[in-house]
Amino acid sequence: MVETGSLDRHGGPPVGSLGRGPVPHHQSAQRVVGGEGLGVDGEHDPTLASAGRYPVAGPRPGLLGCRVSIDVRPSEDADTYLATDQLVWFAEVTAADADHLRLGLPADQRFVVDLPDGPSDLHAGIYGVRPMEMSLPGGALVPIAGLTWVGVHPDARRRGVLAAMMTDHLSRTRDAGTAISALHASEAAIYGRFGYGLAVLTHQVDLGRGTTFTAPHLEDEAAGITTHVLDMAAPGVSERMRACQLAAAPDFPGTIVGSSDFFTLMTSETPEQLRDKERRRVLFARRDGADVGYVGLRREHKWADARPSGTVTVGQFTGGPAARLALARRVVDLDLMGTTKLENVGVDDPILGWVGGPRGTGDLKTWDSTWVRLVDLEAAWSLRSYESDCDVVVEVADRYAPWNAGRWRLRASSGAGSATRSDSPADIALDVAVLGAGYLGHGIAGLLRAGLVAEHRPGAYAGLARAMRTALAPEPSIGF
Ligand SMILES: CC(C)(COP(=O)(O)OP(=O)(O)OC[C@H]1O[C@@H](n2cnc3c(N)ncnc32)[C@H](O)[C@@H]1OP(=O)(O)O)[C@@H](O)C(=O)NCCC(=O)NCCS
Repeated sequence: MVETGSLDRHGGPPVGSLGRGPVPHHQSAQRVVGGEGLGVDGEHDPTLASAGRYPVAGPRPGLLGCRVSIDVRPSEDADTYLATDQLVWFAEVTAADADHLRLGLPADQRFVVDLPDGPSDLHAGIYGVRPMEMSLPGGALVPIAGLTWVGVHPDARRRGVLAAMMTDHLSRTRDAGTAISALHASEAAIYGRFGYGLAVLTHQVDLGRGTTFTAPHLEDEAAGITTHVLDMAAPGVSERMRACQLAAAPDFPGTIVGSSDFFTLMTSETPEQLRDKERRRVLFARRDGADVGYVGLRREHKWADARPSGTVTVGQFTGGPAARLALARRVVDLDLMGTTKLENVGVDDPILGWVGGPRGTGDLKTWDSTWVRLVDLEAAWSLRSYESDCDVVVEVADRYAPWNAGRWRLRASSGAGSATRSDSPADIALDVAVLGAGYLGHGIAGLLRAGLVAEHRPGAYAGLARAMRTALAPEPSIGF
C-alpha cells in the first residue's frame, strides 16, 4: 500500500521523512501510507465489524501479573480516549484529531483501562482494533484484528495495564470468531511475550536516478502498461487503491487490506500535516483502461551545487510484477529528483532481482514489518495452505491465550492443514509466537539453532518449518 506518508504523528519518524523505519502500529496508516486521514464519521466496512465479528462486550477482568485485577472496558468517551493517546504519543494536537480517531477505528473497537488510584483526568491505558483482512499462503483473504492505538499513561506504566489489555484483546478476538491478530510494534521487545511472532521483514531501498531494471520476461507485459499520476486525496482515488490492493492480495500473501474508511484515512492530509510538503501523489498502472497497480509517492526538492537532487519517497508497490516494473521505472525517472527511496519492499520483491541484488541499490536496510498472533490456533492452522506435508505433535506454550496451550497434532497434507488435540508424546515444544512467526511463510527453521524451540524427535522441527515456509517471503504490510 502506499506507504508514502510520513508517520507525521503518533510515534512515527519526524515529519518529512515519509517514514518507514520500524513503523509503530497505531495510527501509522496515515503516516505511512496515505496521509493523516481526517474527516468522516466513524463508519466502517460493513462486511467486517458490523457483521458482528467485533461485538461490543462488557467489562472483563484483565490478568494482571497475579497482583491486582484490572478491568478493561469499551471506551465511552472519545475525547478522553483521544487525550490519553495524545499524552502517550506526544505529537502535535490538531483540530482534526477527533475526526482522525473516528476514521478507521470503529467506536465499538476502542477499549480503556481506568485504575482506582488514577490518573483521574485520563485513562490509564487504551487500545483499539481495526477490522482488516489479510491474505494468507494459498490466497485466502481472512478477517483479522488489527491491533493499534496501544498506549499506557506514563504514570501507570509497568503495572500490568498492557498485560491486562492484551488479555482482553485476545479473549474478545476469540469470542468474535477471529483467528488472527496482527500489529506493527513500536519496540521489538514488547509483543513476543504476548504471543506475537515476527512474521514479515521489510526492506527500505534507496535507488539512484535512472536505475536500470532488467526483466526480459516481463517486457512484453510491461509494454502494455501505462502510468498516470494523481493527487492521492482526489475523489475516488482511495476506492481505486483499495480495489487494486484487494485484487493483488491473493498473489502476495501477507498483504493487509484495511476498510474503506481506513483508505480514506490513509489518503487524506490536513494543512498541518502538509506544511511545506508536497501533497501525496499516487501513480496508477493501467492496462486496457483498467487499474492494475499503484504506488504512492511524495517528492522533496533539493539543490546541490546548482543541480537538482531531490528525493522522492515511495510507498509500497501494489499490483503484479509487470505493473510493479512499470511503476518502478517511472519512480526512478522523475524530473528534478536524484534519489528514490522505496519505503516498504518485501524480502523477495522482484525489485532486488531487477537491480542484481543489494549492491545494485544505493542503500538497503531491513526492519520488522507485521507481527502475527494466532489467537485461535486450531482455526488459524487450517485457514492457510502448505507447500509441503508435515505431521508433528507440538507442545504449545501460551500464557495469554490458554485455550491454545497444550499438545496439538499439526498436520499438512496436499496443501491442507489440520490441528487436533493429541495425547501422544510431543515432538517439539515451542511458544505460540513461533507459530505466528511462521504463519505467513517466513522461514522459522533457524529458531531451533537459536535455541528458541525444543526438539524431542530429531528432524521434527525442520519438517514443521518446511511445511510452514513458502517459496516466496510474505509481503510486508503498511503501518496501521
Ligand atoms: C509499551 C507500553 C504499552 C507498555 O505498557 P505497560 O502497562 O507499562 O506494560 P505492562 O506493565 O503490562 O508490562 C507487561 C510486560 O511487558 C514488559 N514490557 C512492557 N513494555 C516493554 C517494553 N517497552 N520493552 C520490553 N518489555 C516491556 C514488562 O516489563 C512486563 O513484563 P513481565 O510480564 O515480565 O512482567 C507502554 O510503555 C507505552 O504506552 N509506551 C508508549 C507507547 C507504545 O509504545 N505503545 C505500543 C505501541 S506498538
